[in-house]
Amino acid sequence: MVPFQAYQTPTAFKHGLGVLENLAEEVKALGIKRPMLVTDPGIVKAGIADEAAGVLKRGGVSFVMFDQVEANPPVELVDRGAVFFQQEGCDGLIGLGGGSSMDTAKAIGVVASHGGSAVDYEWADPNPITKPIPPLIAIPTTAGTGSEATLWSVITDHNRHIKFNIGGTPFIAATVALIDPLLTINLPAHVTAGTGMDALAHAIECYTMAFAQPFTDAVALLAMEYVGQYLRVAFAQGHNKEARYKMSMAAMLGGLAYGTDSAGAAHAMSQTAGGVVNCPHGAITARLLGPVMEYNFIGEPQKFARIAVALGEDVRGLSIWQAAEKAVEAVYRLTEDVEIPSLQQLGFSEDQIPLLAELAVKDPQTIGNPRDIYYDGYVKVYQRAFAVGK
Ligand SMILES: [Fe+2]
Repeated sequence: MVPFQAYQTPTAFKHGLGVLENLAEEVKALGIKRPMLVTDPGIVKAGIADEAAGVLKRGGVSFVMFDQVEANPPVELVDRGAVFFQQEGCDGLIGLGGGSSMDTAKAIGVVASHGGSAVDYEWADPNPITKPIPPLIAIPTTAGTGSEATLWSVITDHNRHIKFNIGGTPFIAATVALIDPLLTINLPAHVTAGTGMDALAHAIECYTMAFAQPFTDAVALLAMEYVGQYLRVAFAQGHNKEARYKMSMAAMLGGLAYGTDSAGAAHAMSQTAGGVVNCPHGAITARLLGPVMEYNFIGEPQKFARIAVALGEDVRGLSIWQAAEKAVEAVYRLTEDVEIPSLQQLGFSEDQIPLLAELAVKDPQTIGNPRDIYYDGYVKVYQRAFAVGK
């Protein structure tokens, strides 16, 4: 047991179909005179950046657009964005997109307010974040990463082939999260699948991790229920508003479950593996979640049994161990149903297992895992994950 814990989030969550229409009002309410809209070319192409820009223009807000975000955002992008922020005389941020855009906006905020480079704030080493970033409005366009609710920004250092976290403090959190499920309506099915499984991974890992607490347990369980009920529907029917709303809420709740602490082995693996092969975070996390649960469930059988119930499994008449195994089976089945690509299809090969296992051990998220895991354990989990994909 951890001796004492706290839960804190400074973010105001405003959600519902069409809530994007309130963007200009929110900017003004926060006293922002010149926001920098941080987004990526895909969001521009999908017309969502124009939609947000239109709301700002109609509301009389003068803003600048930074639309260069790329997946797995690199250090250089953040540093370039922070220079742009200063040059343009901005005083606030709008992060519009998936996790990459919101994480980039957060990290730009850190560098703009503290100086230096994003790399200076890697896991608060050498520099901790000591003051709030400029006011940030986070607007997710996927339902998965939960970055609108977390105290983290995940940045990639391509030179060292690693991803690292900046944050762990309320100073980096969004001031307002505007969660409009209509923005996810046109997401391609494979993005719906990967990001939705990422939300599930946040919920499951944070529910079972060593730092779990009642606040995070409560939101994590509801996130699991929503994913269990609605991810397949959102995957199968992109235009189903109820499914999109529930998945957006699952992502938000999963992000809240992330709290201030680390997740577990699936994220220790997926984040480090994402530094080796540039692949979608949700898909790689999804592929590792089942094998990690299979490894972990003996450490927390009661909690895994409860996960099975949250995911809609019938556990009547089963022992606690059988019920716990049902949770593992349910996640494997969901992974297949929403057609998550195999590790091989994502670009990994089995001869990379020693390297991938070595990197995962070093990731700070390893500490939170509900079963002790070292190099040999990671090798075993990776071998299983490759075998499942064959
Ligand atoms: Fe994640």
